[in-house]
Amino acid sequence: MSRTAEVDLNVVDWLNNVIAEHGSTPSALIPVLQEVQKKHNYLPEELLTYIATALNLSPATVYGVATFYAQFSLDPKGKYIIKVCDGTACHVRGSLPIYEAIRKRVKLVDGKATTDDGLFSVETVSCLGACGLAPVITINDQVYGQVTPEAIDLIIDVLEKREGM
Ligand code: FES
Repeated sequence: MSRTAEVDLNVVDWLNNVIAEHGSTPSALIPVLQEVQKKHNYLPEELLTYIATALNLSPATVYGVATFYAQFSLDPKGKYIIKVCDGTACHVRGSLPIYEAIRKRVKLVDGKATTDDGLFSVETVSCLGACGLAPVITINDQVYGQVTPEAIDLIIDVLEKREGM
């Protein structure tokens, strides 16, 4: 058996457990998609088809939900998802230079949102609800307030060291 097949079977086992946990009914769709998004950082297409069959929904319905909500992504994202707030408070306190500093630091070019090594995704979001700390970024679940372009270097350094780079 190839390694790829083993990984796929593990994913199917995991998904079967998730579906069983939430009940194999159409109302389980969003919680199941949330778990898949959390595990993979995106919704792999082949899993959407599997979920549709398991929940007795059409693939079009599952795809429609997956593309409707901003919390879901159909494209692979990096291990570290960096969100730069560009709400009003953050914008006036320099979110754009922060965004540019991050993209430069992780070497994102050509309008790409995810680095080629799959480590970082960088995106902008509207207000993160921490305006008093503007400008604000989040990296996965961690919030960083009053960031500066200089602080970005230190933050990314720590993450890269954690990854043995
Ligand atoms: S505007 Fe950035 S946290 Fe509110």
